[in-house]
Amino acid sequence: MDYDAAVNSIKAALMQRFGEAFVVDPELQGLNALAKIAGHRSQRRYLPRPIASSLLRLLCACALSAPSKSDLQQCDIVIVNDAAIRKGIAAAIPEMRWIEDAPAFLVFVGNGDRLPTVSQLRGKPFPNDHLDQFFNATVDAAIVLATFVCAATAVGLGCCPISAIRDRPKVVSELLRLPNRVVPVAGLCVGWPAEAGEITPRLSLRTTVIENAYSERDIGSEIDAYDRRRLSLRPYRRQRDVRRWGEAPFYGWSEDKARQYAEPTRRDFGCFVRGKGFCLD
Ligand SMILES: Cc1cc2nc3c(=O)[nH]c(=O)nc-3n(C[C@H](O)[C@H](O)[C@H](O)COP(=O)(O)O)c2cc1C
Repeated sequence: MDYDAAVNSIKAALMQRFGEAFVVDPELQGLNALAKIAGHRSQRRYLPRPIASSLLRLLCACALSAPSKSDLQQCDIVIVNDAAIRKGIAAAIPEMRWIEDAPAFLVFVGNGDRLPTVSQLRGKPFPNDHLDQFFNATVDAAIVLATFVCAATAVGLGCCPISAIRDRPKVVSELLRLPNRVVPVAGLCVGWPAEAGEITPRLSLRTTVIENAYSERDIGSEIDAYDRRRLSLRPYRRQRDVRRWGEAPFYGWSEDKARQYAEPTRRDFGCFVRGKGFCLD
């Protein structure tokens, strides 16, 4: 893409995403990379074209080049290329067909086992077994996942993260034989996109970017404005749980998310994580 095209594509993507115009200096370096980031969309349909294992390894290496808290390196990536294991995971989450369809499926895990093992190997105490250890490992895993998505997008692949694996953490843990203190953070479907996909509008920067410190704000009207912008660009195809909540005359993002979280989810996840040996206090 030439520079003008990259500038235009960044501006168009961010206008669609946030409903506001951004200044893009055409002299900036890396405009093509920015255009890919700004134009992000999760991809759930893939061409029946395999991904070379050497490319997957390259992308893993780029992803694991991301910053890591205190250089502790507490993320591992599981490449699931055994058909039976993949089927087992896909069967546990049948509503997401893309888990089985994707040419590649990875699981990003937080590994809280390596650090205490290192302490033990070096004959040192480990008086830090508390919530922050779990946090460090999962944050590292999330950063590596996001970096993998950027790297994959750079070479033309499409991705869809899968936190639904945490709906069935025991099944996933058993299939992947995750050791003690190793927990799944998210799966990732990867493949060559079969369609362009669409940009999903986000909350405006007025809502999510804060200068210096939070102040009093009318969050209700900000969300209302987002609901309206989003409805005009990407209306929901169907309403969630109509039997319980009825048909809403105006069905925006906030109605969808409120309905989604009116159902209890993953209430056993803390118990699973504790069972894996993490202390969450
Ligand atoms: C941590 C994480 C977990 C996600 N889990 C799922 C999932 O289980 N299934 C799915 O289809 N999409 C999943 N997604 C994709 C989101 O639904 C998607 O990012 C969101 O709808 C916004 O769309 P966009 O990525 O195209 O902008 C996940 C995304 C993230 C970051």
